[in-house]
Amino acid sequence: MDEITQSVREDGETLPLIITPKNGRNSVDFLEGWISKNASYLKEKIREHGAVLFRGFEIDKPHDFERIVLRYQPELSTEYRGTSPRSLQPGTNAVFSASELPYFYPLGQHIEMSFLPAPPKEIFFCCLIPPSSVGGETTLCDFAKVYRDLDPDVRRRFEEKGVMYVRNHTRLDRLLTIDPTMMKGWEATFGSSDKAFVENECRKHNVDFHWSGPKNDNIKMIHREAAIQHHPETNVPVWFNHIQVFNMQMVSSYMRHHCARAKSLFFYFAYVCLLLLTWLGGFIKPHDLGFTTLYGDGTVVPKEDVKHIDDAIRKNLVFNRWQKGDAIMIDNFRISHGRQPFRGKRKVVVSWSKPFLKPKAFSDCC
Ligand SMILES: [Fe+2]
Repeated sequence: MDEITQSVREDGETLPLIITPKNGRNSVDFLEGWISKNASYLKEKIREHGAVLFRGFEIDKPHDFERIVLRYQPELSTEYRGTSPRSLQPGTNAVFSASELPYFYPLGQHIEMSFLPAPPKEIFFCCLIPPSSVGGETTLCDFAKVYRDLDPDVRRRFEEKGVMYVRNHTRLDRLLTIDPTMMKGWEATFGSSDKAFVENECRKHNVDFHWSGPKNDNIKMIHREAAIQHHPETNVPVWFNHIQVFNMQMVSSYMRHHCARAKSLFFYFAYVCLLLLTWLGGFIKPHDLGFTTLYGDGTVVPKEDVKHIDDAIRKNLVFNRWQKGDAIMIDNFRISHGRQPFRGKRKVVVSWSKPFLKPKAFSDCC
């Protein structure tokens, strides 16, 4: 390990381990070679720290990032069933824009695709243009610590009932709506305009579906998942669901905290707009929102429990300020990521490993 330098953050936080070049050896060629030689050591460090950040290397374009990720994980996935609009980066086979949702919209902490039966085991991000303003961090949070910090009664309710995910999509992306959660159409979500393909995908993932609307063109998808998983290698219990993402109360909380950091009139205005939309969205039945999360039995999670989960996440949130060329490898079965609002330029790209079946299905626990 004398070829590189390893450290942790100045505040002592061990998430992530930070690897920087030594003796000027900062080329992508060098990093590729180092990762190839030390793949098992790297895996061990990702498990130990939750994530490993490479900083100070000459990673300049999506292809550079793909080269180093492939040295660690030769099999990347291109299948994405999440809610963020993403596009494949030119010159790569499996590097995407991290999220093309509006820059002022906060993305709540989440384990990537935790609502699917088989999310990726690892996720990789790279910053090609760091944010020029306050915010824009890809915040990290150890969801094993969140599980530990939650009130046992709150945990028990989720452990016994699981989580129900309800998603409603029109055919195309929709921006003019009073529903703040209704944005991505089903064609973009599934990458297909073929209804039979969509239905097959739903059946494959145990998702109940129902078509409706004047042209029978709107789809409602409902499925249930366990709310907690045990890490497949360490067996540590992990808060493993999207409750805090598909929840407008939580989105407002993220925006409120960002306003306190940014102290910008623009974001105060965005916060007021978000509150107004959240209030309007309150007139829509939970089952008809673009997305919503409920207990597995279909009952609403009380606001005080949502607030408690938000507090536990905030307590463990790690704000890593991006630097150009930063590349981070994250254990997606333990560490969540989110995106803080920002203004100005910022370019972050993402790749992820193949789907990995979650140890616990809804039927195993609820
Ligand atoms: Fe994500």
